[in-house]
Formats: sequence, structure tokens, C-alpha cells
Amino acid sequence: VNSRQLPELAVLGGTGHLGHALARRWVLNGYSVIIGSRDATRAAEAALALGQAPGARVRGATNIEAARAANIVVVTVPFASQESILTEVRETARGKLVVDTTVPLIPPKVMRVQLPEEGSAALRAQRILGRGVTVVAAFHNVAAHLLARDGTVDCDVLVFGEKKDDRERVVDLARDAQLRGVHGGSLANSAAAEALTSVLIFVNKHYGSMGAGLRITGLPDAKSSPVLVA
Ligand SMILES: NC(=O)c1ccc[n+]([C@@H]2O[C@H](COP(=O)([O-])OP(=O)(O)OC[C@H]3O[C@@H](n4cnc5c(N)ncnc54)[C@H](OP(=O)(O)O)[C@@H]3O)[C@@H](O)[C@H]2O)c1
Repeated sequence: VNSRQLPELAVLGGTGHLGHALARRWVLNGYSVIIGSRDATRAAEAALALGQAPGARVRGATNIEAARAANIVVVTVPFASQESILTEVRETARGKLVVDTTVPLIPPKVMRVQLPEEGSAALRAQRILGRGVTVVAAFHNVAAHLLARDGTVDCDVLVFGEKKDDRERVVDLARDAQLRGVHGGSLANSAAAEALTSVLIFVNKHYGSMGAGLRITGLPDAKSSPVLVA
């Protein structure tokens, strides 16, 4: 664990598959992380599990407390809960960066693309949060169970947001989770990555694979390689 000056992160729904795996990587890379949950006890337990490394800075809190305390708020809850959690943290997230990971999967047909009426879950997040909150969408195509292991994951992370500098902050977060973040354009474009998750689930079923992923080819390496955790 290193001691760079890094933003404090809240991971709402950080007790779950994706949030917990991302939080673990960020904690190992020196970030201070607050695990958010509807239940503070569950959050504390999840934080305890991540706090074993020497110097690890991680604690648990309710989602709203986590969002209030952090500089960057990462949202990792199921699509069905996206609206309620974003509505809950809307005021506390004002002026902050919210990283939305929501894929609009509607069970039982998770292998079928079902985008929301706004066009993408990312645009839906921005509608719910309002103009006072900066939304960047990412991490739609990375399998949580692969992320939960050590080492690199054979998958790129497409990053969507209206401004380059905001996307860059999330490319940095991806890098610090040992993933290559790739600028993908506006929040409307997030529809493409969100839709691809249903395709990847179908691919996994068809081929009996567990972790089909996405790679963007043809990029110059120097600007796009993740920095590996020391
Ligand atoms: N799993 C993946 O591989 C993966 C990959 C890419 C993107 N995603 C996306 O990431 C998001 C999270 O996926 P996941 O698989 O990590 O989900 P998950 O494990 O099923 O749930 C994550 C957390 O969400 C919270 N939650 C559940 N229902 C809620 C509700 N009604 N209101 C508020 N919070 C609720 C729970 O935390 P508490 O009970 O502690 O509150 C839960 O631990 C989804 O939108 C998914 O599409 C997932």
C-alpha cells in the first residue's frame, strides 16, 4: 500500500460483487475507500475483510454517509436499485464525480439488450442526479469474479462522460485497479458498452466460458497501458 495523494472513494453497494472487487484493488493501491451499504453493519464487515493489508485505509458506512464523506462516489448496485440509490445521494453528491457502473439488465432476459428509455443507464443517472453532479460511466464489461482475483484482467474498460478531464479521472481509477481505461465519448455512447454486457453474457453461455471480455485494438501503447500494482 503506498501513500500517494489520492481522492477518497465511496463505493455504494460495495458489499456486492463488482463494488467489493473494485474496492479491494483500490485499497491495495493506496486509496482510502468507504464501503457503502444500506446496512452499516454489513458495510463494516465488508470493510474489515478488505482492511487486512498493512496500511490499508478502508471503512464501512451507510450509502448516504459514504457519499457525504468521499470525493468520488462509485455506484455499484443493480439496475433495479439505480434510481432509488441515486435519488438518495443526489444532494450529498452535488459538486462531486459519480462513477456509475450500472448495466440495465432486466432479469430474466439478461442476454437481451434492454436499454432504458433515456437511451443509456448513464444518461438515466445524469437525469436522476441533475446538472450539479458530474457523471462518468465505466466498468460495464469487466467480470467481477475475475476482478476479485489478483493480477491483470484481460479486458478493457470503456469510459463515458461529457468532458475529457472527467473521463480522465476515471481512466486513472481504472489504471489503479490494474485495468486499461479507454475514452469512449459521451454518456449517450455508454449505451454501446451497456448493451455489450448482454452480448458477453450470451457469449459466455454459448461457449461455456466464464469471463468473456472486450479489448480495443490499435491503440498506441504508451498512453493506454495500466500501471501495475507494485
Ligand atoms: N457483477 C459483475 O460482474 C458486473 C460487471 C460489470 C457491471 N456490473 C454492474 O454493477 C452493478 C452491481 O453489480 P453486482 O453484480 O455487484 O450486484 P450485486 O452484488 O447483486 O449487488 C451489489 C450491492 O447492491 C446493493 N443493493 C442490492 N439491492 C439494492 C437496493 N434495492 N437498493 C440499494 N442497494 C441495493 C447490495 O448492497 P447492500 O445489501 O449491502 O446494501 C449489494 O451488495 C450492476 O448494475 C451491474 O450491472 C456488474
